[in-house]
Formats: sequence, structure tokens, C-alpha cells
Amino acid sequence: MRNGGALLSFFQQLGAPVASWRGAEGEAGVEDMGGDGVGVTGADGGMGSDIADVGLSGGGLARIEWAGRAMPVLGLLREECASKQPFAGRSIAACLHVTAETAVLVGVLTAGGGRVHLAASNPLSTQDDIAAALASQPGVFVHARTGVDRETYYAHLHRALDGAPDLVIDDGCDLVNTLHAERAELLPGVAGGCESTSTGVMRLRRMAAEGTLAFPVVAADASVTRRMFDNGYGTSQSVIDGLMRATNILLAGKTVVVAGFGSCGSAIAERAAGLGAQVCVTEVDPVRALEAIMGGYRVLPMAEAAPLGDVFITATGSRDVIAGEHLELMKDGAVLANAGHFDVEIDVRALADLAVEVNRGIRPNADEYVLDSGRRLILLAGGRVVNLIAAEGNPAAVMDLSFATQVIALMWLVSGEAELAPGVHPMPEAIDAEVARLTLAAHGTRIDDLSPAQLEYLESWRQGS
Ligand SMILES: NC(=O)c1ccc[n+]([C@@H]2O[C@H](COP(=O)([O-])OP(=O)(O)OC[C@H]3O[C@@H](n4cnc5c(N)ncnc54)[C@H](O)[C@@H]3O)[C@@H](O)[C@H]2O)c1
Repeated sequence: MRNGGALLSFFQQLGAPVASWRGAEGEAGVEDMGGDGVGVTGADGGMGSDIADVGLSGGGLARIEWAGRAMPVLGLLREECASKQPFAGRSIAACLHVTAETAVLVGVLTAGGGRVHLAASNPLSTQDDIAAALASQPGVFVHARTGVDRETYYAHLHRALDGAPDLVIDDGCDLVNTLHAERAELLPGVAGGCESTSTGVMRLRRMAAEGTLAFPVVAADASVTRRMFDNGYGTSQSVIDGLMRATNILLAGKTVVVAGFGSCGSAIAERAAGLGAQVCVTEVDPVRALEAIMGGYRVLPMAEAAPLGDVFITATGSRDVIAGEHLELMKDGAVLANAGHFDVEIDVRALADLAVEVNRGIRPNADEYVLDSGRRLILLAGGRVVNLIAAEGNPAAVMDLSFATQVIALMWLVSGEAELAPGVHPMPEAIDAEVARLTLAAHGTRIDDLSPAQLEYLESWRQGS
């Protein structure tokens, strides 16, 4: 794989402007499509959006403008895309959380000449005001309404694919999976794509190992900026934010059990400890477990942690991490939250089976399950990804880095420079370094450069003590 250095020439200018999320100029038409959604006809007239309420677009617009202020690297990319038109005539199918930050990304892609079909990567995380604001933009088609059922969720993925994508952006691999399993006739037209999250990369690797994956996908998840800033700083802050908004709990003095000490879980543990909680960690990987011990946390199996915890947060990418047998051991009032991509980490069905009474919505995004012992367990966001449902997802400054690497990956894929075989490919280190350099510049932070003597010293094996 090439290092992408040539592609990065457009990064030579610094002083990134504020990101504008708007695409090319023009008007999008609005029509009532019947049913419980609102149709918004885009530039091609034939493939409208399916959103909840077009009247919400004003509020969405204001939130997108606010997010754009914290996304200077995407702002710079937008200018580059507007002048070089790397996506001209290209159709891009995206399956992402429909948030203000995603809207800024979409604005960069349309500024670069792309047509974007956006579906939600989680039925509960869609922000309907953002969907409405985006759907009113030319070249953008949004197929997302909050709270849709599974059938509609997949129907929206199909609608996104109806745009016959040249490129795909996925978050969890549902779009790529649907494309291969049910829309294989579109595969020859797809030049490649990128995947945002670890769960999606795991699924893609399994597809590649089976020889099923038909095009190259760049694993944005594996980039250093993504793992350190998005999974680490961003997810941990927004997970705690979701927990706070849903419960208003005081974490100081509480026992917080974090399942999974990976890039998300380790940062969540650190944040919870920083707020005064006693943090326990459960793991299945001995190296990660050791790392947690060295970090000052108590490590133990979930069956032993279950009776101790006041708050449980799962971040593993696996299923049934909190199972029925654990739920039965928990204290009265224990709070259950999931930060992992899919709603399989807490066995919600077992929780429902154990409950003699369910009090939904005792607070926004909090349901109370009363067990026959009288103990009450509080499930947040229905066991789905808590930071996106009970809070607003990652802060814009973090998504600026994550999405910037993805835009560059897509530009690289269409530039003809990449020459990647079908399969999962790591993000070139050069892109990470450049995005970090630009972000530092936007912060007004300067760092030292290696001197020629230092460079020579570091590259030579001859000089010792
Ligand atoms: N909420 C968000 O905004 C957000 C952001 C990034 C990633 N994610 C998702 O969070 C999940 C974790 O991501 P990550 O990047 O931290 O992954 P990771 O691979 O770095 O870490 C996962 C950890 O969980 C451990 N684990 C697996 N099964 C376990 C089990 N049964 N019990 C305890 N530990 C177990 C693994 O050993 C590993 O250390 C994924 O589903 C990912 O897609 C969510």
C-alpha cells in the first residue's frame, strides 16, 4: 500500500477555515410522500428523502453551523474539494449516525461534486432536525427517521443503495453487508469505501477472509487519530454525558463496572475514575486485563462484578456480556448502559424475561425493570449505544479528525493512486500524521522539527553511546 503522500499535497496550506456544511448552490424540492415520513425530492427529482419532519430543518441548520465551527480540518478539506471536485459525478452511499457532525462531512462530499445518499447506522441515533436540514440540500438524499423498526431501517439502506454507489461509507458494516447479500448487481460499480468502527472492521475482515468482499475498504477505525481521539477522548466523554443526561447520577463514590478495556473502555474507565468512581474492569484478553490492573483498576469476572456495581458500561463489540445470570445478581437501582456498536452487549431479552414489571421512560432514555425480588434495574437507551441516543455522540472537534481521515481515504480511492485490491486496508500513517499536524495548526500549537543531525542520528545504526 502506498503511503498516500502524493495525495496529501493539497494539505500544504494551513489556517483551516470554519467548515461550511452546505453543498453546491441550488434548491431542493419538497413533496409529501405519504405514510408517516416526509419526502424531500433532491436534485434528480426521482429519489427523494425519507425524513420525519421537513419543518425541523431550521433548528438542524443552526446546530450544523455550530458543529462546523469546531471542525476546521473538514473546513480545509471542503475548500480543497470545492476547487478540485474529486467526487464529481460520483454517487456516495453512506450509513452513518445522522448527527450535525455527519452533516458537515456530507457538505464536504457534496462540495467535492458528490451525490450523497445517507441512511442511519442506528435507528435510534438519528437526529430528525439534522436529517431535515440535510435533505433540503441539493445533491443530498436522506433516508432516516428516528425510532424506525428493523424493516424500515433496512429499507432505508436499500434506498441509499438505489443511488448506485461508486463509493460507500459505513459504520458497522450493515450497508456493505446488505450491498453484498442483497444488491450484488451494484458491486461492479463500487470503487471502494471506508468503515468507521471496530465492529464493522471485524465483520469486513470476516467477509474478506471468506473471499466475499468485492472492493477495497479502508479501515478508518484502525487509524491512530480514530482510536486515540474518537474512541478514546470522544466516546468516553459522550458516554459519560449520556449516562449523566439519562440519570443525573453522582459518580463520585459509586462503583462503575466497565466491560472491555479496549480503546473505548479504557478511556471510559479513566473518565469515570476521574469523576471519583471506583472502577472495576471485566475483560477476556489477558494483556488488556493486565493493562487495566497496572492502570489501577480492579479486574474481575462479570459474575463477581455484578453484585458490586452501581453502574455498568459495556464496550466490547461482543454479545451477552451482561447476561441473565449477571442481572440476577445486581443491586437495586443498578444502571445498565452500552457503548458498543450493537445492542447485543446487554441481554435485554433476558432482562425483559426476568422483569415482573417494566416502567418505560421513568426519565428520558431510561427504562426501569422491576425483578420479582423487588430490585429495580435501570436500562439506558434500550441497551443501544448510549452516547448517541442519550447524548449527542462525539463532540464535533473529535469527529473533525475522524471524518477528515475518511474524506482523504475516499479522495485517495478515486484518485487512481491507491490501486488497492479488494479487502480491508489500513489507513496510511501519512494521512494520520497530516491530519494531526493540521489540527495542531488549527489549535495554534507549534511543535519542534527534527534537526538534520537528529534525523541522521535516528536513521543511522552506527552511532551508539
Ligand atoms: N459509542 C461509540 O461512539 C463508539 C465509538 C467507537 C467504537 N464503538 C464500539 O465500541 C465497541 C468497542 O470498541 P473498541 O474500539 O474499544 O474495541 P477494542 O477491540 O479496542 O476493545 C474491545 C475490548 O473488549 C474486550 N472483550 C471482548 N469480549 C469481552 C467480554 N465478553 N467481556 C469483557 N471484555 C470483552 C476485548 O478483549 C477488547 O479488549 C465496538 O462495538 C465499537 O464498534 C462505539
